Amino acid sequence: MKTLLVFVLVFLSLTMVYGAGKAPVKPGLRLDFYKSTRCPQAEQLVKQVTEARVRRDATLGAKLIRLHYHDCFVKGCDASILLDTVGTTQSEKDARPNLSLGGFDVIDEIKTRVENVCPGIVSCADILALAARDAVSLPFNRPMWNVLTGRKDGRVSLLSDVTGNLPSPFSNFATLQNLFSNKNLDINDLVALSGN
Ligand code: HEM
Repeated sequence: MKTLLVFVLVFLSLTMVYGAGKAPVKPGLRLDFYKSTRCPQAEQLVKQVTEARVRRDATLGAKLIRLHYHDCFVKGCDASILLDTVGTTQSEKDARPNLSLGGFDVIDEIKTRVENVCPGIVSCADILALAARDAVSLPFNRPMWNVLTGRKDGRVSLLSDVTGNLPSPFSNFATLQNLFSNKNLDINDLVALSGN
């Protein structure tokens, strides 16, 4: 439990402070971004669908937070992990570390629900960040960290961007430290996040 809490708190810093990867705080990101849009209920919709799915499958918390991490480490938290390969241009999804990712269907379900209620407002990048938080938070009965919102979705997703950004299971300590420091994450972040 203690490890999970430390991990969650550090992940908070990853998603809040480094919400867009290397950049320290995106000027457009803020709490409750959608409250002042034509989709004020966005966060509630994400939570409803996420929680319904997590109640049926408790492994989704792990899957969604991993999906979010794999998204954020490559081109920032821009939902580029969700884009499919087009023609011969392979997307991030097809990179080896991403082949065992799960939870895409949950994000699709949330996106469908949100688009049915208020089309064209809520980014997939925000949905992913919120769903990861909501899925992990459900057993604690309260949001475990704040998620700043207002992210824009990326339109580019390249398999070749994954290497050199996401650590491999064979990365040594120096490489892990280096890859994390490229995202402004220090050794404490590396240790805590690895303890998930
Ligand atoms: C520090 C470098 C990391 C490496 C080298 C690494 C590598 C891996 C590998 C090899 C797996 C097994 C994948 C498979 O089943 O084939 C895995 C699973 C997992 N990773 Fe990481 N990971 C790292 C950091 C993280 C971080 C920072 C998070 C979350 C914030 C995370 C979340 C997870 C989760 C939740 C799973 C299990 C997913 C499931 O059971 O569906 N990992 N990781």
